[in-house]
Amino acid sequence: TATAEAPVAELSTVSAVQPISKEVTILFGSQTGNAQGLAKNAGKTLEDNGFQVTVSSMSDFKPNNLKKLQNLLIVVSTHGEGDPPDSALTFHEFLHGRRAPKLDDLRFSVLSLGDSSYEFFCQTGKEFDQRLEELGGTRIQPRVDCDLDYDDPAAEWLEGVINGLSEAQGASTAPAPVTAVTEAGESTYSRTNPFKAEVLENLNLNGRGSNKETRHLELSLEGSGLTYAPGDSLGIYPENDPTLVDMLLQEMKWDPEEIVTVNKKGDVRPLKEALTSHFEITVLTKPLLEQASKLSANKELTDLLSAGNEARLKEYIEGRDLLDLVRSFGPWAVSTQEFISILRKMPGRLYSIASSLSANPDEVHLTIGAVRYQTHGRDRSGVCSILCAERLQPGDTLPIYIQHNENFKLPENPDTPIIMVGPGTGIAPFRSFIQEREEAGVEGKSWLFFGDQHFVTDFLYQTEWQKWLKEGVLTKMDVAFSRDTDEKVYVQHRMLEQSKELFEWLQEGAAVYICGDEKHMAHDVHTTLIDIIEKEGSMSRDKAEQYLADMQQQKRYQRDVY
Ligand code: 2AM
Repeated sequence: TATAEAPVAELSTVSAVQPISKEVTILFGSQTGNAQGLAKNAGKTLEDNGFQVTVSSMSDFKPNNLKKLQNLLIVVSTHGEGDPPDSALTFHEFLHGRRAPKLDDLRFSVLSLGDSSYEFFCQTGKEFDQRLEELGGTRIQPRVDCDLDYDDPAAEWLEGVINGLSEAQGASTAPAPVTAVTEAGESTYSRTNPFKAEVLENLNLNGRGSNKETRHLELSLEGSGLTYAPGDSLGIYPENDPTLVDMLLQEMKWDPEEIVTVNKKGDVRPLKEALTSHFEITVLTKPLLEQASKLSANKELTDLLSAGNEARLKEYIEGRDLLDLVRSFGPWAVSTQEFISILRKMPGRLYSIASSLSANPDEVHLTIGAVRYQTHGRDRSGVCSILCAERLQPGDTLPIYIQHNENFKLPENPDTPIIMVGPGTGIAPFRSFIQEREEAGVEGKSWLFFGDQHFVTDFLYQTEWQKWLKEGVLTKMDVAFSRDTDEKVYVQHRMLEQSKELFEWLQEGAAVYICGDEKHMAHDVHTTLIDIIEKEGSMSRDKAEQYLADMQQQKRYQRDVY
């Protein structure tokens, strides 16, 4: 298999190159680290093929240098409703603005990452691709849009890029094929070769009577060689709910023991195991429905997919799973193998790590909110969170990997004050931050804003925070319990109450970290930060926004939101 052990260095060097276009710049825009990992690997592979490569985050790239580039590769992901990653925002805005230069001499190619269960799939990559063409650039090789399982398409894209670049240089020999790219590291374990971590502890952090269930999970990394830093995430490959798997088997009258092929490599498994561990069965995507429509004569499905019905399609997909699909649009007169071949590979779930490795050698801790809801007449549950809440026992193992996240890191200077905003499970990385600072005996000030529904049942890691506060490892703590009072109080209200002091911290160079819900919380906290800067700094709205944008540029405003 293509793992970290399959070195990219095996690729042969391309000969007969002219100096002119040997320089390649790779810019990545990454939120969770996938685009960054791919960009770095592409860089290594290109170097091994004789190119001079610069790999940089879009946030570190000076747009004025754009005109000097000859070969530009863009690796960028898309989030939420088609949004660029935080680190890509400024560059994206610049490129789409009036000050963007003509790029007639530029040769470029875009690799976009996304998730086809979202409406605006790979939107950011598409925008970069289109815009670079508008500005006069020429494609080295067409854009490739990757779904969650991006390794193979990304490797094909890179192969195409190398071919394109080499041809342009009149290279006489074709480059060796690109091996599937993986992040190199100390450990042999990676996203494509997960480590089976033993569960050491699995607790409910919420008290009796809470509306919530938040699991605290401790896993052993012993023997893995895996390491992580505060701010990194852990990926978990979960198993699907056995009840859902059984319902699916019954509905389709499938034989659980039938041997099926689960991937392109040709690995085989009994069907039940394949549906449990190898395939995603809880999410519908448009591409999946399109493939399914080829397997069914059901006119309703063809109808749903036809032009003009986009809104109905979106409405259908939302909140429904594979069981709904097979019930809605049968009969399915195809073989089991044919049917399951249209399913997406089970994607890993990322959780912000809640521990410091130096404080807990060979361990990793997580804070996972159990997701349960009712929709379309059936109880639904989050695949990974409910596995952890209901079926995972100490002694069991979980396939895991570390996802490094350069976009959420403690300041390099330990004296830099930090402000942490993390309601709900957003608290996780800050437990890691403070454990790390305690372990290192760091002097820098720290300020935590935490919020949840009720003080008595939902104050996650309460005793730890109070101890750190008492010992001075944590300088300040403000909490907002939204359902203890008639009027809702949120973290941003606490921030606003302390706006003067908060702005003083910012002026002293504090770094601000936000973790948790993106749609509402992170958005409202962002606006509140601008309010505070505007008021306390006596600035115009524009100035205040620029102040925060500058902080972001200086990596003093970082978000880990979901
Ligand atoms: P609520 O559920 O009572 O509305 C963690 O989930 C905490 O975040 C809860 O107290 C929740 O409050 C709160 N929360 C919900 N929406 C929020 C928002 N827009 N900004 C900040 N906190 C929010």
